[in-house]
Amino acid sequence: MFKIGKTKKMSSEKIKKKFLKFFKKKGHKIIPSSSLLPRDATVLFTTAGMQQFTLYLQGEKNSKKDFKTKHLTSCQKCFRTDDIEEVGDDTHHTFFEMLGNWSIGQDSKGKYFKKGAIKYALEFLVDCLEIKKEKLSITIFKGDKGVPKDDTAREIWQKNGILPEKISEFGVKDNFWGPVGKTGPCGPCSEIFYDRGEEFGCKDAKCGPNCPNCNRFVEIWNLVFMEYIKDEEGLYNPLSQKNIDTGIGFERIVSLLQEKKSAYETDLFLPIIKELERISNKTYKENKKIFRILADHIRAIVFLAAEGVFPSNVEQGYILRRLLRRSIRYGKLLGLENGFMVFLTKKVVEIYSDSYPEVKQKELEIIEIIKKEEDKFKKTLEKGLRQFEKISKKGKISDMDAFHLYDTYGFPLELTKELAEEKDITVDEEGFRKAFKKHQEISRAGAEKKFGGVGKNATREATKLHTATHLLHQSLREVLGLRVRQMGSDVTSVRLRFDFSYPEKLTVEQKQEIENMINQKIRDGMKVKKEEMLYRKAIESGALAFFKEKYPERVNVYSILDSSGNVFSKEVCAGPHVNNTEELGHFKILKEKSIAAGIRRIRAILE
Ligand code: GLY
Repeated sequence: MFKIGKTKKMSSEKIKKKFLKFFKKKGHKIIPSSSLLPRDATVLFTTAGMQQFTLYLQGEKNSKKDFKTKHLTSCQKCFRTDDIEEVGDDTHHTFFEMLGNWSIGQDSKGKYFKKGAIKYALEFLVDCLEIKKEKLSITIFKGDKGVPKDDTAREIWQKNGILPEKISEFGVKDNFWGPVGKTGPCGPCSEIFYDRGEEFGCKDAKCGPNCPNCNRFVEIWNLVFMEYIKDEEGLYNPLSQKNIDTGIGFERIVSLLQEKKSAYETDLFLPIIKELERISNKTYKENKKIFRILADHIRAIVFLAAEGVFPSNVEQGYILRRLLRRSIRYGKLLGLENGFMVFLTKKVVEIYSDSYPEVKQKELEIIEIIKKEEDKFKKTLEKGLRQFEKISKKGKISDMDAFHLYDTYGFPLELTKELAEEKDITVDEEGFRKAFKKHQEISRAGAEKKFGGVGKNATREATKLHTATHLLHQSLREVLGLRVRQMGSDVTSVRLRFDFSYPEKLTVEQKQEIENMINQKIRDGMKVKKEEMLYRKAIESGALAFFKEKYPERVNVYSILDSSGNVFSKEVCAGPHVNNTEELGHFKILKEKSIAAGIRRIRAILE
C-alpha cells in the first residue's frame, strides 16, 4: 500500500471537520448541505456543491447581503445516476458527499479567483493534511470552443512551487466544468491529482493524470474558474463576475487519507460491510462486488427516502425503486432473507446521524418504505427470474418480453439489461421504450374514458369491480350452463353492468346461487394471475374472449386460481385487476333484466 504521510488513519468525520474549519479560518461561512432534490426542477438530483449557489454565481442574488460574505464552504450530499451500473468497482458511487469552497465574484481588490483558490487548495493539502507537494500533479485547460488556454492558472501553479513537468493540459472533456443542466454557470478548471506511485501505474510512457489504463493518479480536487454562462443556444458567454467553485469528492479523499484503494474499505462503509458479513455469513473478500453494490445502494436509498422520495415509476421515485429492486436481487444472490435491508439501514443511520440528523429523525419512515417495497418485489422476483430464464433461451430479449418483465414482474428495464448482460444477450431497449410509452398512453386514455378523470380511489374500486365481473361471468356459466356468453360489460367506480346471452329470466334461487358462488370465491382468497401471450394461444388454452372486441396479436390473460392452482376463470382482458379476490369485499346483485331478445343484463355492486 502507498503511504500518504502523517495524517494516516484520520477518521472521515475528522477530515470533514478539518476542511470546513480550514475554510472558516480563511473567512468562509459554513453553509449546511442543501437537499438531494434541487429546487431547480430542470435536474432530478443535486450532483454538485455549487447547485444551491447557482443564483449567486450568476450574479442574480447577492451573497454579501444574504450570507454577509462572498466566501462560502460546505459539505454537500450529492447523487449521480450516470454511474449506477459502474458501482461495485473501486471508485464509483451513487450517493456521495462533496466538500467545496466558493468565492462569489472577486472582492473590491480583485482578489481570490484563481490565485486565491490555488493558494488555499495547496495550503490545505500540503500544510494542513501534510501531503507532500511532490506527490501532486495538476491539469489545466488547453483551450477550445472559443475559450482560451489557461496560461494564468499554469503560471500561478508554478509560482506556488509546482514543477512545470507536473502540469499537463486537457480539453473540454476533462478540464471544462459544467453547467449542471443544459444552461448555467461553468468554466475551465484545474484538477489536482495525487500520484500513488509507479507501482500503481501502467507501464505506458504517457501515464499521468486521466490515464485511461490505470488508477495511479487519483483525482482529489477540482477547481473551477467559473467565468462563463452557457445559454439556450449552447453558447458560452462571459459571466458578469469571476467565481470560484471547487469540489472534492469526499469518499475519494477519505480513501486516500486512510490509505485505502477504495472508499468501501474506509470508515464510511466498513460498518455496513461488516453488518453484511454478519447477516449473510459470507465474507466481503469473496463477494466484493455484491457487497459494494449493496453498501452503496443502501446509503442512497436511505438518503433518498429521508428526503421524502417514494418508490414509483417516475423520476426520483423510479431511481429509488431501481436501487431498491437491484439491492433485493443482489441480496437474494447472497442468500439474504427478506428484511435484510433494515439491518443495513440502521448502520447508515448510525454513521450519519451526527452530520445529517434527518436520517435519524426519519428512520422509521425509511424502514417502512423499504419494507413495503421489499414485500412487493419479493413476491414477483422469483417468478420474474424464472420467466427471464425461459425467455433468455431465445438468445435475446424482445421488446415485449422486456415490457412483460416490467409490467408483470416489476423488473426495471435496467435490471433486465443487467441480467441479459450476465448471459451475454441483448435487450431491445428501444422497442421496450416504445411499448412502455404506448402502454402509458393507453392506460391514460382508458382511465379518462372509464372514470371520467376521477382520482385514484375510484380507479381502485373499478379495478375490484373488473375482477368481480370475471367472477360473475364464470359463475353464470357454472350455474346456467355454457351457453352464457358475454355480450357487453361496463364498469364504473361504483357498480358493474354485465350483459350476457341467456333466453330466460333468472330465478331467485339461481341469482342466490350465483351470488353465493362469487362470495365463496372471494372468501377463498383466490389468486389473480396475469400472463401475456399470443391471442391465438390464449384462445387455444381456453381463455374466454369478448367476440366483439378486436384484440392485438399479443394479449393479457387473467386467470383466477384456487390454492392448488386450478383455474376457475380465464379471460383475455386488458385489466387492471386485483391480485387476490379477497380484496373485493361482498358481492351483491342489484338487478337482473332483459335488454333484448335472448340477452340479459345484471347490475351488481361490491359492499
Ligand atoms: N463543481 C465542481 C465539481 O463538481 O467538481
